[in-house]
Amino acid sequence: MPFLDEIEPLKQTALTELKAAPDLATLEQTKGAWTGPNGRFTALMKQMGTLSKEEKPAAGKLINAAKLELEAALAARREELELKAALPKEPTDFTAPGRRRALGKLHPLTQVTDDIVRAFRKIGFAVADGPEIEDEYHCFDALNTPADHPARDSQDTFYLDTTDKRLLRTHTSSVQIRVMEKQAPPVRIIVPGRVYRRDNADATHNPTFHQIEGLYVDEHVTVGDLKGTVKFVFKELMGDDVKIRFRPHYFSYTEPSYEIDFTNALVKKMGKDWLEIAGCGMVHPQVFETVGYDSKIWTGWAFGFGIERIAMLRYDINDIRLFYENDARFLRQF
Ligand code: DAH
Repeated sequence: MPFLDEIEPLKQTALTELKAAPDLATLEQTKGAWTGPNGRFTALMKQMGTLSKEEKPAAGKLINAAKLELEAALAARREELELKAALPKEPTDFTAPGRRRALGKLHPLTQVTDDIVRAFRKIGFAVADGPEIEDEYHCFDALNTPADHPARDSQDTFYLDTTDKRLLRTHTSSVQIRVMEKQAPPVRIIVPGRVYRRDNADATHNPTFHQIEGLYVDEHVTVGDLKGTVKFVFKELMGDDVKIRFRPHYFSYTEPSYEIDFTNALVKKMGKDWLEIAGCGMVHPQVFETVGYDSKIWTGWAFGFGIERIAMLRYDINDIRLFYENDARFLRQF
C-alpha cells in the first residue's frame, strides 16, 4: 500500500495551507486544490480502487479520518475569516461626530499643532494651558529675566493699560511657571498657544503668532533626553530625512541653553543648509527654586518653538501673513 504513507504528510500540508489562507477567496481556492474534483486529496482517494479487498477497510478508515480533519479545519478557518471580513477595517472612534465635517476644514496651523501634540502624546506628554493676558512675574521675573531685558520694554511687548502692568504674553514660557506652581514634580507637559510681540508685520513676522512650549522635570534628566525627544518629534512631523543640530545660545531661564537648527530636503530646496526652529536648554536652578522645587533633586529641560515656522516649511509658504487673512482660496488648499 505505497500510497497510504502519503496520506499523513499530504494532510499536514493541506491543513497548513487552509489555516494560512488570508481571505475567503483564497480559502475556497485552497479547498478546491485539495478536495475539489481535480484536487490532490481527491486523487489520493481515487487510488482506493487499486487496493485489494483486505487492504481497503484500513485504508478507508485512514482516508476518512483525514478527510474529516480537513473539513473541520476548513470550517474553522471559514468562520474566522467571515468574522474578520465583517469587522471594520479600522478601529471605530465612537466619539467621532460624523464621517465628514458638514462644512469647512481645519486651519493649517491647527493641523500642524494637532500633529505636534499627537507626536508628544505618544511619548507621554500632556497638554497644559495658561492665560494670554499675563503679569510680569510669570512672563519675566520668575523666568529669571532681568529688569533690563529688552523683552520687558514697551517697545517690544504689548502692555495693557492697567496699573498692575499686565501684558500680552510674549512667549508660552510663562505657562512653565504656572504649571510648576500648581504641580509637584515630575512634570511632562507641552503648551501650544498664542503669543504677542510688537513685531511689525512683514513676510516672516507678525504681532501675534503661535508657539509650543515643552517642559520635562524629573530626576537625572539630561540634554541627551532633550535631543532624543526633539529628534523623535521632528521625524514624526517631517519625515525620516530630518536632521537636528544644537547650537550654544543664551536664555536666562536655562543653563546651558541652545538654539535648535533643523534641516531636511525641504530646507535644502529653499537654498539653505539649516533653519533655526527653537530655543531650549536645561532649566535654570533659580527657576526651580522660585517655584519651590528643590534644585538639588530635580533637573529638567524646556524648549519653545514657533508653529508658523514649521507650518511654512511643511507647506512651502513664504508669507506668514497668509495664515491670518482667512482667504478661502488659501485655506482650501490644506
Ligand atoms: N521663550 C523663548 C522664545 O520665545 C523660546 C524658549 C527658549 C523656550 C528656551 C524655552 C527655552 O522653554 O528653554 O524665544
